Amino acid sequence: MNAGVLGTGHYVPDKVVTNADLEKIVDTSDEWIRTRTGIEERRIAEDDMDTSDMAYLAAVRALEDANLTAQDLDLILVATVTPDTPFPSVSCMIQERLGAKQAAAMDLSAACSGFMYGMITAQQFIENGAYKHILIIGVEKLSKITDWSDRNTCVLFGDGAGAAILGPVKEGKGILSFELGADGGGGSHLYQEKDYISMNGREVFKFAVRQMPESSVNVVEKIGLNKEDVDYLIPHQANIRIMEAARERLGISEEKMATSVRRYGNTSAASIPIALSEGAKSGKIKENDLVVLVGFGGGLTWGAVALRW
Ligand code: ACO
Repeated sequence: MNAGVLGTGHYVPDKVVTNADLEKIVDTSDEWIRTRTGIEERRIAEDDMDTSDMAYLAAVRALEDANLTAQDLDLILVATVTPDTPFPSVSCMIQERLGAKQAAAMDLSAACSGFMYGMITAQQFIENGAYKHILIIGVEKLSKITDWSDRNTCVLFGDGAGAAILGPVKEGKGILSFELGADGGGGSHLYQEKDYISMNGREVFKFAVRQMPESSVNVVEKIGLNKEDVDYLIPHQANIRIMEAARERLGISEEKMATSVRRYGNTSAASIPIALSEGAKSGKIKENDLVVLVGFGGGLTWGAVALRW
């Protein structure tokens, strides 16, 4: 039995913060941010909207899209590094708000690779027949751990949530291969110190431009297909230059890659499921497409899947 995506949903806050807005608070420029990262604007949640609020809204939309109710859920996985509180988990808060009485719930911490870790974890439960419907949410309110006086980091991040429901699909469809990895030795390149994100941008960049292209190719080769067979690529939306490295390595054209980084910045664990939800709803992802999702993040961590839509 294969595990596939039955529905997707996302939520981003209404408040738009442009590069011009950031020019007013730190020594930066729209030109620097666009050319180094591809980011034009990002969404920032208001004070009264926490991580679980965004996660809930994305989850409701994914359930609707999958034509399922909360009672159908067996497990809720939430990938985030910005939970409302260390415990109870965001996943338990969502279980309660949805009324998903049957569902077990846990949070997962793998920074920007969190949604990939969640998806691959869910795949195992579905393929072994233990669970039928699993809700996975990638969500971050990075604005609450962003130092708004540090131009090295504050221009990069944004808030948002994306969700997907995984369940059994026909043979030949759904997740066909995956790759997961971690290198704790690189933990010092990207971490939270006291209240804020601390980052060695150059080291993270070097790691990401090597790992994302490699993992993208690996998941396609594992199923005996050619890298050019990929119909749609959803790389973690951190930086357009890193994403381009993955696209070029696959040898696919520009329209075949999600680029929501321009509008939302880096939303960490939320970036891949937001792009997946937008891709599905806009028709960019079509029936039978070979879709590759690939992420990297703090830890260091990485993960990728090849799936037949
Ligand atoms: N505006 C203007 N200048 C800036 C800004 C800014 N916002 N930020 C940094 N600079 C300056 C620095 O001070 C430095 O100046 P200096 O050379 O005088 O010291 C210079 O710009 C840095 O230049 P580069 O190192 O050449 O910049 P680079 O091309 O490496 O781009 C960037 C920096 C965008 C941070 C890049 O390294 C990057 O994207 N790295 C990966 C970061 C990432 O993806 N992090 C998230 C991981 S996911 C997660 O888990 C949250």
